[in-house]
Amino acid sequence: MDLRREQFGNNFAWGVSAAAYQTEGAHLAYGKGPSIWDEFTSRKGRIRNNEHAAVSCDFYHHYHHDLALMRSMKIPNFRFSLAWSRIFPEGTGQVNKAGVDFYKRMIDFCLELEIEPWVTLYHWDLPLALERKGGWTNREMINWFGEYVDFCIRQFGDRVNKWMVLNEPMVFTGAGYFLGLHAPGRKGLKNFLAAAHHAALCQAEGGRIIRSVNSSAKIGTTFSASQVTPQTGSELDLQAAEKIDLLLNRSFIEPLLGLGYPYHELKALQRMEVFIRDGDEQKLAFPMDFIGIQNYTREVACYSYFTPLVQARIVRADQRNATHTLMNWEVYPESIHHVLKRFGAYKNIPELIVTENGAAFRDEVINGRVRDEGRKQYLQQYLAEVLRAKTEGVNVRGYFVWSFTDNFEWAEGYSPRFGLVYIDYATQKRIIKSSGQWYSNFLERKSETAIIRNISPSLNRN
Ligand code: GCO
Repeated sequence: MDLRREQFGNNFAWGVSAAAYQTEGAHLAYGKGPSIWDEFTSRKGRIRNNEHAAVSCDFYHHYHHDLALMRSMKIPNFRFSLAWSRIFPEGTGQVNKAGVDFYKRMIDFCLELEIEPWVTLYHWDLPLALERKGGWTNREMINWFGEYVDFCIRQFGDRVNKWMVLNEPMVFTGAGYFLGLHAPGRKGLKNFLAAAHHAALCQAEGGRIIRSVNSSAKIGTTFSASQVTPQTGSELDLQAAEKIDLLLNRSFIEPLLGLGYPYHELKALQRMEVFIRDGDEQKLAFPMDFIGIQNYTREVACYSYFTPLVQARIVRADQRNATHTLMNWEVYPESIHHVLKRFGAYKNIPELIVTENGAAFRDEVINGRVRDEGRKQYLQQYLAEVLRAKTEGVNVRGYFVWSFTDNFEWAEGYSPRFGLVYIDYATQKRIIKSSGQWYSNFLERKSETAIIRNISPSLNRN
């Protein structure tokens, strides 16, 4: 497959993505307060092998080395998140200067290396102190989040121009407050509906605050999005697919665009009305400069009488004998074309950026190298579909690989490796995988044979 960078045009942001809790480590050091993930990973049985991210890739202490490695790979954009409780240990009030200074040093080093920082304000690691007050189910979150966003824009806005308000609100409210599979491990429709409404209000309020402080900032927010197809052509499966699609792909973008919640099509979710106050409909809308699309796979849905509220369920890839990654996510490149066309069809979305796409495999080091041809092929196939959508007129202006290095994959722990760079967690050694070599050569418009200069570990200073 002969994919070339120039086919995407010059005004196209190429990068890699990461997130604070999954990579930083130093989880309770240098003044950082506990997050809901620090607490959730301490509960036995919640995380595969009871793993946690107290250290993870130790990005906190390795950022010089990792950013220099990123530079050596010719990667010009880095998407990462700020750990709210590293800045406000209790979520609000007292500021942790060491945390602010860490991010200033790290961002300054990005700029020194001519790597543009793209900052996600919230990537799931809510300060535990706020969860103790109800977390996302407490409408006070709008004020807590507003204070945090305002502070961050004023502290880092002179260095950072690209901002994303939330990371995947459907996932952190659904998995964290309905299914109990992610932090804070709460369940039930009432918790979910309250958290979802307050997250939807915060995604717009965060945009308004950034805009009010920094009129030139480029503001976006990110959504997980997957094509949803019915298992059969039956009316019941078609309805099931429509309901799963509504939940996964429409429930946060449509209120943000001023279209209101699509919940009238899903009776069980109409109970959200108890949390909606006069004027909220207007507060849910904000004109983002871009929407981040995070796509990995497609979902197949079928009717399920016993599934409460939606009578629909997802048929996992291994139940369908579909080619899939270690996350049991089907490799289905057409899905990214489908979601880009879907989101591209909404009015008032100026541009789309693929802020996450990648694949988890086991990966192993053989003779000091990691040959991950499956990931390289995955990335090339999905990129070809991004190009197809762009060629058909979708205004897609960027692509970020999830993820730069292997990292802590939430409830799955460390076994699913997503990185272009391998992490040996025992030694913290980094090894550029063959997919990382390919991405670097692609960005540098070089053939496969190009050798990447490795960075000496002496850069491991904090
Ligand atoms: C997400 C998160 C990332 C994940 C990645 C792989 O999309 O769930 O943004 O933190 O690690 O997507 O699951």
